Amino acid sequence: MLLKIEGITKRFGGLVAVSDVSLQVKQGEIFGLIGPNGAGKTTFFNMLTGIYKPNEGKILFENQPVQGLKPFRIAKLGISRTFQNIRLLKEETVLENVMVGMFGKTHSGLWSAILGLRSAKNEEEIVREDSRKILELVGLKGFENELANSLSYGNQRRVEIARALVSKPKLLLLDEPTAGMNDEETDEIGKLIFKIRENGTTVILIEHNVGWVMGLCDQIAVFDHGEKIADDVPEVIITNPEVIEAYIGKEDVERENEYAANS
Ligand SMILES: Nc1ncnc2c1ncn2[C@@H]1O[C@H](COP(=O)(O)OP(=O)(O)O)[C@@H](O)[C@H]1O
Ligand SMILES: [Mg+2]
Repeated sequence: MLLKIEGITKRFGGLVAVSDVSLQVKQGEIFGLIGPNGAGKTTFFNMLTGIYKPNEGKILFENQPVQGLKPFRIAKLGISRTFQNIRLLKEETVLENVMVGMFGKTHSGLWSAILGLRSAKNEEEIVREDSRKILELVGLKGFENELANSLSYGNQRRVEIARALVSKPKLLLLDEPTAGMNDEETDEIGKLIFKIRENGTTVILIEHNVGWVMGLCDQIAVFDHGEKIADDVPEVIITNPEVIEAYIGKEDVERENEYAANS
């Protein structure tokens, strides 16, 4: 198991945003996380990446406990993410935005840069080269020198993904990568996610487009009010009454059942 979560809980004052959630993600899997707004999905990612420390529970990444570690430590272990709201340096080039994803992971940080050591220079070259390759992978070859804010919304999301990939993470967390995209852009992101997996990176993806996620994921967990209410293969998830209820509301389900019974 690449990732093993045991009973994690996150409270904000009296609100339990994530409540006693356990789940496991296998190496090489595309794992979907779905659920209504406010279900605790982003908070879950924030605990995985060290932004929040869980109040309870354990997060084991490659069998090592990582709960409560600082974000840069977790990034170094190989977990990287994108954010629900695009966070690019808008006045910087696409290439620079991707290179930023390597800071904190390079060995010869600030001191060697100041001292002008050769290793720092070599490292920058390597990062630049890696960033170009990743941009090609995400379909942005030729955009390297454009300013980030001149790109379409869909392409800005690809830059975010490229930035998360440049550190060659073992686990990539995508928080609503297709938000605001049209059907064609969404399909392209699906293809990209398959390519990322082929390159050996495991993916957990938060998604609101349930139909799309069903065709993409090996396994899907459903959150509702901070709790995990289902965790299974897509074919089973789609027929789970609790899941349907969480999405379209209990009253609607009852009304539909009544309607079916009377017709
Ligand atoms: N930093 C925070 N402080 C207080 N409440 C928060 C914070 N972050 C998230 N929440 C609350 O936790 C719940 C889950 O939020 P979130 O994880 O963003 O849900 P989702 O991503 O599933 O839409 C919501 O009720 C939200 O308002
Ligand atoms: Mg969210």
